[in-house]
Amino acid sequence: MLNGVVPSPTIRLRTGDAFQYRFRNGLREPSILHWHGLLVPDDADGHPRHAIDPGGTYDYAFPVLQRAGTYWYHPHAHHRTAAQVHLGMAGFLIVSDAEEEALGLPSGEQEILMVLQDRDRANAFAYAPTPTDLREGYLRDCPYGNGIPEPTVHVPGGTCRLRILNGSQARVYLLGFDEGVPFTIIGNDGGLLPAPVTVDSAYLGVGERLDCLVDLPPSGEYLTLSSRHFSESGILFGPGTPQGSEIRGLLVLRGTSRKVPGRYVPPAVLSRVAPLGAPVVTRRFAFSSAGGESAHWIAGRHFAMDRIDVRVPFAQVERWEFINDSDLPHPVHVHGCQFQVVERVGWRGQVFPYEGGWKDTALVMPHESVAIHICFNAYRGLYLLHCHNLQHEDQGMMLNIEVS
Ligand code: C2O
Ligand code: CU
Ligand code: CU
Repeated sequence: MLNGVVPSPTIRLRTGDAFQYRFRNGLREPSILHWHGLLVPDDADGHPRHAIDPGGTYDYAFPVLQRAGTYWYHPHAHHRTAAQVHLGMAGFLIVSDAEEEALGLPSGEQEILMVLQDRDRANAFAYAPTPTDLREGYLRDCPYGNGIPEPTVHVPGGTCRLRILNGSQARVYLLGFDEGVPFTIIGNDGGLLPAPVTVDSAYLGVGERLDCLVDLPPSGEYLTLSSRHFSESGILFGPGTPQGSEIRGLLVLRGTSRKVPGRYVPPAVLSRVAPLGAPVVTRRFAFSSAGGESAHWIAGRHFAMDRIDVRVPFAQVERWEFINDSDLPHPVHVHGCQFQVVERVGWRGQVFPYEGGWKDTALVMPHESVAIHICFNAYRGLYLLHCHNLQHEDQGMMLNIEVS
Protein backbone atom coordinates (compact mmCIF):
# COMPACT_ATOMS: atom_id res chain seq x y z
CA MET A 1 0.00 0.00 0.00
CA LEU A 2 0.98 3.64 -0.26
CA ASN A 3 1.21 5.79 2.87
CA GLY A 4 -0.40 2.94 4.80
CA VAL A 5 -3.86 3.16 3.24
CA VAL A 6 -5.95 1.20 0.74
CA PRO A 7 -6.82 2.56 -1.71
CA SER A 8 -3.86 4.90 -2.08
CA PRO A 9 -4.45 8.56 -1.18
CA THR A 10 -6.45 10.68 -3.61
CA ILE A 11 -4.34 13.38 -5.22
CA ARG A 12 -6.19 16.52 -6.29
CA LEU A 13 -4.64 18.92 -8.78
CA ARG A 14 -5.70 21.77 -10.97
CA THR A 15 -4.66 22.39 -14.57
CA GLY A 16 -1.58 24.59 -14.55
CA ASP A 17 -0.30 23.32 -11.19
CA ALA A 18 3.31 22.25 -10.83
CA PHE A 19 3.23 18.71 -9.46
CA GLN A 20 6.09 17.37 -7.38
CA TYR A 21 6.17 13.99 -5.76
CA ARG A 22 8.84 11.89 -4.11
CA PHE A 23 8.23 8.17 -4.33
CA ARG A 24 10.10 6.06 -1.81
CA ASN A 25 10.08 2.33 -2.48
CA GLY A 26 9.33 0.59 0.81
CA LEU A 27 8.67 -2.76 -0.88
CA ARG A 28 11.09 -5.67 -1.00
CA GLU A 29 11.15 -5.54 -4.80
CA PRO A 30 11.58 -2.94 -7.54
CA SER A 31 8.75 -0.50 -8.17
CA ILE A 32 7.91 2.76 -9.91
CA LEU A 33 4.72 4.82 -10.09
CA HIS A 34 2.88 5.67 -13.30
CA TRP A 35 0.30 8.48 -13.65
CA HIS A 36 -2.34 6.83 -15.80
CA GLY A 37 -3.87 9.24 -18.28
CA LEU A 38 -1.59 12.17 -17.55
CA LEU A 39 0.55 13.90 -20.14
CA VAL A 40 4.00 13.87 -18.59
CA PRO A 41 7.61 13.92 -19.80
CA ASP A 42 8.83 10.35 -20.33
CA ASP A 43 11.13 10.38 -17.31
CA ALA A 44 8.06 11.05 -15.15
CA ASP A 45 5.86 8.44 -16.81
CA GLY A 46 6.83 5.45 -14.68
CA HIS A 47 8.13 3.38 -17.58
CA PRO A 48 9.38 0.06 -16.14
CA ARG A 49 12.95 0.94 -17.14
CA HIS A 50 12.78 3.55 -14.37
CA ALA A 51 11.88 1.03 -11.66
CA ILE A 52 13.87 1.64 -8.48
CA ASP A 53 15.24 -0.83 -5.98
CA PRO A 54 13.90 -1.33 -2.46
CA GLY A 55 14.70 1.68 -0.31
CA GLY A 56 15.31 3.90 -3.34
CA THR A 57 13.53 7.14 -4.17
CA TYR A 58 12.31 8.66 -7.43
CA ASP A 59 11.44 12.32 -7.81
CA TYR A 60 8.68 13.45 -10.14
CA ALA A 61 8.16 17.02 -11.26
CA PHE A 62 5.92 18.12 -14.10
CA PRO A 63 3.33 20.74 -14.98
CA VAL A 64 -0.28 19.58 -15.08
CA LEU A 65 -1.16 20.06 -18.75
CA GLN A 66 -4.21 17.94 -18.38
CA ARG A 67 -7.74 19.14 -18.60
CA ALA A 68 -10.08 18.20 -15.74
CA GLY A 69 -10.71 14.49 -15.42
CA THR A 70 -10.61 11.32 -13.39
CA TYR A 71 -7.07 10.00 -13.68
CA TRP A 72 -5.25 7.52 -11.48
CA TYR A 73 -1.86 6.18 -10.51
CA HIS A 74 -0.39 2.77 -9.84
CA PRO A 75 2.96 0.92 -9.93
CA HIS A 76 4.45 -0.17 -13.26
CA ALA A 77 7.51 -2.36 -12.60
CA HIS A 78 7.73 -5.07 -15.24
CA HIS A 79 6.37 -8.48 -14.09
CA ARG A 80 5.37 -6.89 -10.76
CA THR A 81 2.50 -4.55 -11.65
CA ALA A 82 -0.28 -7.06 -10.90
CA ALA A 83 1.06 -8.08 -7.50
CA GLN A 84 1.66 -4.50 -6.40
CA VAL A 85 -1.74 -3.24 -7.52
CA HIS A 86 -3.28 -6.23 -5.76
CA LEU A 87 -1.59 -5.18 -2.54
CA GLY A 88 -3.58 -1.97 -2.79
CA MET A 89 -1.26 0.40 -4.62
CA ALA A 90 -3.68 2.36 -6.80
CA GLY A 91 -5.31 5.71 -6.21
CA PHE A 92 -7.24 8.49 -7.88
CA LEU A 93 -5.57 11.54 -9.33
CA ILE A 94 -8.29 14.12 -9.84
CA VAL A 95 -7.66 17.15 -12.00
CA SER A 96 -10.02 20.11 -12.04
CA ASP A 97 -10.13 23.16 -14.28
CA ALA A 98 -12.22 26.26 -14.91
CA GLU A 99 -14.39 24.61 -17.58
CA GLU A 100 -15.48 21.87 -15.21
CA GLU A 101 -15.88 24.16 -12.20
CA ALA A 102 -18.26 26.35 -14.18
CA LEU A 103 -20.69 23.41 -14.35
CA GLY A 104 -21.19 23.48 -10.58
CA LEU A 105 -21.30 19.67 -10.41
CA PRO A 106 -22.27 17.93 -7.15
CA SER A 107 -19.32 18.01 -4.76
CA GLY A 108 -18.37 17.40 -1.14
CA GLU A 109 -20.54 14.65 0.33
CA GLN A 110 -22.37 14.43 -3.01
CA GLU A 111 -19.22 13.28 -4.82
CA ILE A 112 -18.10 9.67 -4.52
CA LEU A 113 -14.85 8.25 -5.83
CA MET A 114 -14.96 4.50 -6.11
CA VAL A 115 -12.24 2.11 -7.27
CA LEU A 116 -13.70 -1.28 -8.16
CA GLN A 117 -11.69 -4.46 -7.70
CA ASP A 118 -12.67 -8.09 -7.38
CA ARG A 119 -10.91 -10.14 -4.74
CA ASP A 120 -10.93 -13.54 -3.16
CA ARG A 121 -13.54 -13.70 -0.40
CA ALA A 122 -11.32 -15.60 2.03
CA ASN A 123 -7.90 -14.34 1.11
CA ALA A 124 -8.51 -10.92 -0.32
CA PHE A 125 -5.02 -9.47 -0.47
CA ALA A 126 -3.02 -12.62 -1.24
CA TYR A 127 -1.77 -12.85 -4.81
CA ALA A 128 -0.98 -16.32 -6.10
CA PRO A 129 -2.10 -16.61 -9.72
CA THR A 130 -2.81 -20.07 -11.15
CA PRO A 131 -2.09 -20.99 -14.78
CA THR A 132 -5.76 -20.24 -15.54
CA ASP A 133 -5.36 -16.81 -13.93
CA LEU A 134 -2.34 -16.13 -16.11
CA ARG A 135 -4.42 -16.84 -19.19
CA GLU A 136 -7.81 -15.31 -18.35
CA GLY A 137 -6.61 -12.79 -15.81
CA TYR A 138 -7.05 -12.83 -12.04
CA LEU A 139 -10.85 -12.99 -11.63
CA ARG A 140 -12.43 -13.42 -8.21
CA ASP A 141 -15.96 -13.42 -6.83
CA CYS A 142 -16.01 -10.76 -4.13
CA PRO A 143 -16.50 -7.12 -5.18
CA TYR A 144 -14.36 -4.60 -3.34
CA GLY A 145 -14.87 -0.86 -3.47
CA ASN A 146 -12.15 1.38 -2.09
CA GLY A 147 -10.57 -1.62 -0.38
CA ILE A 148 -13.78 -2.72 1.37
CA PRO A 149 -15.89 -5.77 0.44
CA GLU A 150 -19.38 -4.95 -0.85
CA PRO A 151 -19.27 -1.35 0.37
CA THR A 152 -22.24 0.79 1.35
CA VAL A 153 -21.86 4.53 0.96
CA HIS A 154 -24.20 6.98 2.70
CA VAL A 155 -25.04 10.10 0.76
CA PRO A 156 -27.34 12.94 1.68
CA GLY A 157 -29.55 12.38 -1.36
CA GLY A 158 -30.45 14.35 -4.45
CA THR A 159 -28.03 13.93 -7.33
CA CYS A 160 -24.61 12.50 -6.59
CA ARG A 161 -21.53 12.45 -8.74
CA LEU A 162 -20.10 8.95 -8.85
CA ARG A 163 -16.63 8.63 -10.35
CA ILE A 164 -15.81 4.99 -10.95
CA LEU A 165 -12.39 3.54 -11.71
CA ASN A 166 -11.96 -0.06 -12.75
CA GLY A 167 -8.79 -0.84 -10.79
CA SER A 168 -9.26 -4.60 -11.06
CA GLN A 169 -6.68 -7.06 -12.29
CA ALA A 170 -8.70 -8.32 -15.24
CA ARG A 171 -12.42 -7.96 -14.56
CA VAL A 172 -14.64 -6.19 -17.10
CA TYR A 173 -17.84 -4.77 -15.63
CA LEU A 174 -21.19 -4.17 -17.28
CA LEU A 175 -22.42 -1.65 -14.74
CA GLY A 176 -26.06 -1.07 -13.96
CA PHE A 177 -28.35 -0.55 -10.99
CA ASP A 178 -30.41 -3.51 -9.79
CA GLU A 179 -33.36 -1.17 -9.29
CA GLY A 180 -33.30 -0.44 -13.02
CA VAL A 181 -32.77 3.31 -12.63
CA PRO A 182 -30.82 4.97 -15.42
CA PHE A 183 -27.72 7.07 -14.78
CA THR A 184 -26.11 9.88 -16.71
CA ILE A 185 -22.50 9.68 -17.84
CA ILE A 186 -20.81 13.06 -18.11
CA GLY A 187 -17.18 12.04 -18.44
CA ASN A 188 -14.76 9.20 -19.03
CA ASP A 189 -10.98 8.66 -19.05
CA GLY A 190 -9.93 12.05 -20.35
CA GLY A 191 -12.57 14.28 -18.78
CA LEU A 192 -15.93 15.64 -19.82
CA LEU A 193 -17.89 14.19 -22.71
CA PRO A 194 -19.23 16.61 -25.33
CA ALA A 195 -22.76 15.95 -24.01
CA PRO A 196 -24.31 13.92 -21.18
CA VAL A 197 -25.34 10.37 -22.04
CA THR A 198 -28.12 8.65 -20.09
CA VAL A 199 -27.83 4.87 -19.99
CA ASP A 200 -29.21 1.84 -18.27
CA SER A 201 -25.82 0.07 -18.30
CA ALA A 202 -22.24 0.69 -19.39
CA TYR A 203 -19.14 -1.42 -19.94
CA LEU A 204 -16.01 -0.60 -17.98
CA GLY A 205 -12.75 -2.35 -18.83
CA VAL A 206 -9.70 -2.40 -16.59
CA GLY A 207 -8.12 1.04 -16.37
CA GLU A 208 -11.18 2.88 -17.70
CA ARG A 209 -13.14 5.50 -15.71
CA LEU A 210 -16.68 6.79 -15.80
CA ASP A 211 -17.92 10.03 -14.29
CA CYS A 212 -21.65 9.66 -13.61
CA LEU A 213 -24.62 11.49 -12.15
CA VAL A 214 -27.06 9.37 -10.19
CA ASP A 215 -30.31 10.52 -8.62
CA LEU A 216 -30.57 9.07 -5.15
CA PRO A 217 -33.74 7.90 -3.61
CA PRO A 218 -34.96 9.64 -0.43
CA SER A 219 -33.78 8.72 3.04
CA GLY A 220 -33.48 5.06 3.89
CA GLU A 221 -33.82 3.79 0.37
CA TYR A 222 -30.90 2.55 -1.60
CA LEU A 223 -29.51 1.79 -5.02
CA THR A 224 -27.35 -1.23 -5.73
CA LEU A 225 -24.69 -1.09 -8.42
CA SER A 226 -23.97 -4.50 -9.93
CA SER A 227 -22.18 -5.99 -12.88
CA ARG A 228 -24.49 -7.74 -15.33
CA HIS A 229 -23.91 -10.92 -17.24
CA PHE A 230 -22.36 -10.57 -20.67
CA SER A 231 -20.81 -12.91 -23.18
CA GLU A 232 -20.56 -13.05 -26.91
CA SER A 233 -22.31 -16.39 -27.13
CA GLY A 234 -24.45 -16.10 -24.01
CA ILE A 235 -22.39 -18.90 -22.48
CA LEU A 236 -19.61 -18.41 -19.95
CA PHE A 237 -16.65 -20.73 -19.74
CA GLY A 238 -14.03 -21.22 -17.08
CA PRO A 239 -13.92 -21.98 -13.38
CA GLY A 240 -14.93 -19.77 -10.48
CA THR A 241 -16.50 -16.47 -11.49
CA PRO A 242 -15.48 -16.19 -15.14
CA GLN A 243 -15.37 -13.01 -17.17
CA GLY A 244 -18.93 -11.88 -17.88
CA SER A 245 -20.46 -13.36 -14.73
CA GLU A 246 -23.09 -11.38 -12.91
CA ILE A 247 -21.61 -9.85 -9.73
CA ARG A 248 -24.11 -8.21 -7.43
CA GLY A 249 -23.54 -5.47 -4.92
CA LEU A 250 -20.41 -3.70 -6.16
CA LEU A 251 -21.67 -0.70 -4.26
CA VAL A 252 -24.79 0.23 -2.31
CA LEU A 253 -25.74 3.92 -2.25
CA ARG A 254 -28.01 4.83 0.63
CA GLY A 255 -29.75 8.19 1.00
CA THR A 256 -29.56 9.59 4.51
CA SER A 257 -31.31 12.91 4.38
CA ARG A 258 -34.97 13.52 5.30
CA LYS A 259 -35.28 16.68 3.31
CA VAL A 260 -34.56 15.67 -0.23
CA PRO A 261 -31.71 17.80 -1.63
CA GLY A 262 -32.22 19.23 -5.08
CA ARG A 263 -31.56 17.43 -8.30
CA TYR A 264 -28.70 18.52 -10.49
CA VAL A 265 -29.51 18.65 -14.19
CA PRO A 266 -26.43 18.89 -16.43
CA PRO A 267 -26.43 21.29 -19.38
CA ALA A 268 -26.99 19.81 -22.84
CA VAL A 269 -23.44 20.74 -23.86
CA LEU A 270 -20.67 19.87 -21.40
CA SER A 271 -17.53 20.51 -23.36
CA ARG A 272 -16.20 21.03 -26.84
CA VAL A 273 -14.12 18.15 -28.14
CA ALA A 274 -12.65 18.86 -31.57
CA PRO A 275 -12.12 15.69 -33.61
CA LEU A 276 -8.50 14.99 -34.54
CA GLY A 277 -7.90 15.59 -38.24
CA ALA A 278 -7.56 12.94 -40.94
CA PRO A 279 -4.90 10.35 -40.08
CA VAL A 280 -1.88 10.12 -42.37
CA VAL A 281 -0.81 6.63 -41.27
CA THR A 282 -2.68 3.47 -40.25
CA ARG A 283 -1.05 0.94 -37.93
CA ARG A 284 -2.55 -2.41 -36.98
CA PHE A 285 -1.91 -4.20 -33.72
CA ALA A 286 -3.17 -7.76 -33.31
CA PHE A 287 -3.72 -8.90 -29.71
CA SER A 288 -3.32 -12.65 -29.42
CA SER A 289 -3.46 -15.05 -26.51
CA ALA A 290 -2.79 -18.77 -26.30
CA GLY A 291 -2.68 -21.24 -23.44
CA GLY A 292 0.22 -21.39 -21.00
CA GLU A 293 2.53 -18.81 -19.55
CA SER A 294 3.82 -15.76 -21.43
CA ALA A 295 1.25 -16.45 -24.06
CA HIS A 296 -0.02 -12.95 -24.73
CA TRP A 297 1.38 -10.92 -27.61
CA ILE A 298 0.88 -7.71 -29.49
CA ALA A 299 1.76 -7.97 -33.17
CA GLY A 300 3.57 -11.23 -32.41
CA ARG A 301 5.85 -9.62 -29.84
CA HIS A 302 6.48 -9.77 -26.13
CA PHE A 303 7.69 -6.70 -24.34
CA ALA A 304 11.44 -6.08 -24.45
CA MET A 305 12.62 -3.28 -22.19
CA ASP A 306 15.14 -1.79 -24.62
CA ARG A 307 13.57 -2.50 -28.00
CA ILE A 308 11.62 0.26 -29.72
CA ASP A 309 8.60 -1.29 -31.39
CA VAL A 310 6.88 1.69 -32.96
CA ARG A 311 8.34 5.05 -33.99
CA VAL A 312 5.74 7.79 -34.17
CA PRO A 313 6.43 11.31 -35.42
CA PHE A 314 5.53 14.04 -32.95
CA ALA A 315 2.14 15.68 -33.58
CA GLN A 316 1.19 13.34 -36.44
CA VAL A 317 -2.43 12.15 -36.50
CA GLU A 318 -2.56 8.37 -36.93
CA ARG A 319 -5.21 5.69 -37.09
CA TRP A 320 -4.44 2.68 -34.90
CA GLU A 321 -6.45 -0.51 -35.17
CA PHE A 322 -6.53 -2.92 -32.27
CA ILE A 323 -7.54 -6.35 -33.52
CA ASN A 324 -8.54 -8.91 -30.93
CA ASP A 325 -7.51 -12.30 -32.26
CA SER A 326 -8.41 -14.09 -29.05
CA ASP A 327 -11.36 -15.15 -26.94
CA LEU A 328 -10.34 -12.85 -24.05
CA PRO A 329 -11.08 -9.14 -23.53
CA HIS A 330 -8.08 -6.82 -23.91
CA PRO A 331 -8.44 -3.31 -22.45
CA VAL A 332 -5.86 -1.48 -24.56
CA HIS A 333 -4.06 1.46 -23.00
CA VAL A 334 -1.61 4.02 -24.40
CA HIS A 335 0.74 6.20 -22.35
CA GLY A 336 1.67 9.78 -23.12
CA CYS A 337 -1.54 10.61 -24.95
CA GLN A 338 -5.32 10.82 -24.94
CA PHE A 339 -6.98 9.47 -28.09
CA GLN A 340 -10.39 9.30 -29.78
CA VAL A 341 -12.24 6.04 -30.39
CA VAL A 342 -13.67 6.14 -33.91
CA GLU A 343 -14.84 2.65 -34.81
CA ARG A 344 -15.61 -0.78 -33.42
CA VAL A 345 -16.50 -3.77 -35.56
CA GLY A 346 -17.19 -7.31 -34.43
CA TRP A 347 -19.16 -8.45 -31.42
CA ARG A 348 -20.55 -5.28 -29.83
CA GLY A 349 -20.31 -3.52 -33.19
CA GLN A 350 -20.48 0.11 -32.05
CA VAL A 351 -18.60 2.90 -30.32
CA PHE A 352 -20.75 3.64 -27.28
CA PRO A 353 -21.68 7.30 -26.76
CA TYR A 354 -19.88 7.19 -23.40
CA GLU A 355 -16.66 6.36 -25.26
CA GLY A 356 -16.73 9.82 -26.85
CA GLY A 357 -14.40 12.62 -25.92
CA TRP A 358 -10.86 11.71 -24.90
CA LYS A 359 -9.81 8.22 -23.88
CA ASP A 360 -6.58 6.57 -22.79
CA THR A 361 -7.93 3.02 -22.64
CA ALA A 362 -10.26 1.25 -25.07
CA LEU A 363 -11.94 -2.06 -24.37
CA VAL A 364 -11.46 -4.56 -27.18
CA MET A 365 -13.71 -7.53 -26.53
CA PRO A 366 -13.21 -10.97 -28.11
CA HIS A 367 -13.40 -10.83 -31.89
CA GLU A 368 -13.71 -7.07 -31.95
CA SER A 369 -11.53 -4.55 -33.75
CA VAL A 370 -11.38 -1.04 -32.40
CA ALA A 371 -9.94 1.91 -34.30
CA ILE A 372 -8.68 5.08 -32.66
CA HIS A 373 -7.29 8.37 -33.87
CA ILE A 374 -4.20 9.33 -31.93
CA CYS A 375 -1.76 12.22 -31.97
CA PHE A 376 1.17 12.51 -29.57
CA ASN A 377 1.56 16.24 -29.24
CA ALA A 378 2.55 16.74 -25.61
CA TYR A 379 6.10 15.34 -25.32
CA ARG A 380 8.68 13.41 -27.27
CA GLY A 381 10.11 10.30 -25.65
CA LEU A 382 9.47 6.67 -24.82
CA TYR A 383 5.92 5.62 -23.98
CA LEU A 384 3.94 2.39 -23.88
CA LEU A 385 1.07 0.57 -25.54
CA HIS A 386 -0.22 -2.35 -23.51
CA CYS A 387 -3.10 -4.51 -22.45
CA HIS A 388 -4.35 -3.39 -19.01
CA ASN A 389 -5.34 -6.89 -17.99
CA LEU A 390 -2.50 -6.92 -15.47
CA GLN A 391 -1.69 -10.60 -15.94
CA HIS A 392 -1.40 -10.02 -19.68
CA GLU A 393 0.67 -6.88 -19.19
CA ASP A 394 3.07 -8.59 -16.77
CA GLN A 395 3.54 -11.43 -19.25
CA GLY A 396 4.66 -8.96 -21.87
CA MET A 397 1.54 -7.83 -23.76
CA MET A 398 3.19 -4.44 -24.07
CA LEU A 399 5.20 -2.47 -26.66
CA ASN A 400 7.54 0.52 -26.54
CA ILE A 401 6.38 3.56 -28.51
CA GLU A 402 8.96 6.20 -29.33
CA VAL A 403 7.63 9.65 -30.11
CA SER A 404 10.21 11.73 -31.94
CU1 C2O B 1 -2.55 2.15 -15.96
CU2 C2O B 1 0.65 1.46 -18.26
O1 C2O B 1 -0.91 1.80 -17.13
CU1 CU C 1 -1.13 4.44 -18.11
CU1 CU D 1 -5.10 -8.67 -22.58
